[in-house]
Amino acid sequence: MKVGELVKGTVEEIVFGGYGILRADGKIVFVDRVLPGEQVEVLITKVKKKYCFGKLNKVVKASKHRIKPKCRYFDECGGCDFQHVVYKEQLRLKVNAAIAVLRKIGKVTVNDYQVYPSDEVWGYRIRTRFHLEKIGSKVKVGFFKKGTRDLVPVSECPIADEQINLALKKIERRLLLESISCNFVDVLAWKGQLSVYPPIGDLSYQELEIDVGEFRYIVNPRVFFQVNKFLLNTLIKLVVGKIKGDNALDLYAGVGFFSLPLARRFKEVVAVEGDKTAYWYLKKNSKLFPNLTAIHKDVDSYLTTITSPYEVVVVDPPRTGLNKTARKHLCEIVARSLIYVSCNPSTLARDLFELSSVFDIESVTFVDLFPHTYHLESIVVLVPRFYSKL
Ligand SMILES: C[S@@+](CC[C@H](N)C(=O)[O-])C[C@H]1O[C@@H](n2cnc3c(N)ncnc32)[C@H](O)[C@@H]1O
Repeated sequence: MKVGELVKGTVEEIVFGGYGILRADGKIVFVDRVLPGEQVEVLITKVKKKYCFGKLNKVVKASKHRIKPKCRYFDECGGCDFQHVVYKEQLRLKVNAAIAVLRKIGKVTVNDYQVYPSDEVWGYRIRTRFHLEKIGSKVKVGFFKKGTRDLVPVSECPIADEQINLALKKIERRLLLESISCNFVDVLAWKGQLSVYPPIGDLSYQELEIDVGEFRYIVNPRVFFQVNKFLLNTLIKLVVGKIKGDNALDLYAGVGFFSLPLARRFKEVVAVEGDKTAYWYLKKNSKLFPNLTAIHKDVDSYLTTITSPYEVVVVDPPRTGLNKTARKHLCEIVARSLIYVSCNPSTLARDLFELSSVFDIESVTFVDLFPHTYHLESIVVLVPRFYSKL
């Protein structure tokens, strides 16, 4: 098989990452924007020893779930993966792909689980990063093509909040007038307010206050904040809603999204965050909670200082998941439950494989924070099989 060759086949399944797989000439071909059962013609774009990548050239026989994508940039832009499929089916495919990864990498069989869809599937993103690039004599703004750093210029993004789309128009106009020395712009929108870093024209860089139920978070666009405005409350309820007790530890705490609700329900809460700016906001946001201690430290080094177990530990690591040190220590310091919030099923699976030597899985919940993309949030509640050794 060669790059540039056209092959035909039937899509067997969708795997994590949004790729469909089919077989041709004894090789597995990964291809985007297809659906199980579809007969397709694929242009081979990359050839490896055991597998290839291809680009959809023609749908010969379409799935009944196939629809016209809403976004005119969908074919090229790497932001979305599933606009060509009705929402209910895309979520089913994503959940199945996550369960398959948990089984293959984590050796975890998930039979019982809950799924929370997004109430709205367009205009849900309140935070985004636009990339900038000089193309010819003009600076263009957009997103990268999947798996590359090739810019796809865009003038709108239907999954982003309306305010972010207005900002995008202003950024585009401004870029015609002045050259900008950075290669990205971070935008945060909340209830009609905008904050942009670096500031561009009249788009200013400022703090925004985000109210989620009874909790107020002060943030700026440079720090992590959960992106789906329709699921903020649900996420808090699912992670923190049912638990209470004497002490809890919130690791990878960000600006305190889970720490504040934990502080309502536990007598003492410690929140650990490694990023300087996020920690600064964590401190600021925790001012009304005297029982919440914010710590600016790398999670691994904090874990080595713990001398007595915590009843409940929440971990919400970045996409790379937990590292070896964190996994080892977590096996020793959780007395009642470990709540693992993950945005990446494959690193979650790797971590569960190791954690399952000590923990049983009590529940698995999938929350669709990212409609139309292959990303999926998981919440796994783990309970120690035997009480902590400490
Ligand atoms: C996925 S975010 C979650 C933040 C928060 N739980 C929330 O829901 O908004 C992960 C956070 O972990 C922080 N982080 C990443 N690696 C870290 C490490 N090794 N030690 C401490 N914090 C880390 C990042 O700065 C980021 O704020």
